[in-house]
Amino acid sequence: MIRGDIAEICEEALERTFQSFPSTKTYFPNFNLSPGSAPVREQGRKVADALTNAVDNMDDLAETLSTLANLHAHRIRVDPTNFKHLNHNLLATLSRRYPRNFSPATHYSMDKFLSSALCAFLVGPPSTLAANEHSLCCDSALGHKSSALPTSTEA
Ligand code: HEM
Repeated sequence: MIRGDIAEICEEALERTFQSFPSTKTYFPNFNLSPGSAPVREQGRKVADALTNAVDNMDDLAETLSTLANLHAHRIRVDPTNFKHLNHNLLATLSRRYPRNFSPATHYSMDKFLSSALCAFLVGPPSTLAANEHSLCCDSALGHKSSALPTSTEA
């Protein structure tokens, strides 16, 4: 169900991010960022494809996301806080679209996945990080550390 809607979910999450955190718009100076615009739809599709690929390669998120991580860190120079904003809005969008399926356990496991992806995006696999580095990037929206999270079946 989510897979079929993932591009629209990411588009809505981007729109919410641009509206609720306007400084994020500065990374897209040449885009028409109006809700529903072609560039926002296209960017939503790109984020969706990247996250779908991450879901399909969950065992090695760091390697899977390494090219994109380099792009965002070194070329675009995205402030890490903005990934948290986007993750938060992805969760908000999911809860709005699937109110009956967005149980606490689903919320928890989606948050775990997104914070793990964020961790891989920013600094590589959790095992390579010092504890203080985790606190820079891997605190999830729910306040837990992605490296110490239980699996979704434990949630
Ligand atoms: C879940 C987190 C994110 C994912 C999966 C993601 C994914 C992507 C992908 C797949 C591309 C296209 C790369 C290419 O063309 O080779 C891209 C480009 C870009 N991303 Fe992200 N992104 C994420 C978060 C962010 C955030 C938080 C920002 C800034 C607020 C951002 C800003 C950009 C910009 C400025 C581009 C280039 C757009 C262009 O000029 O075409 N991204 N991203």
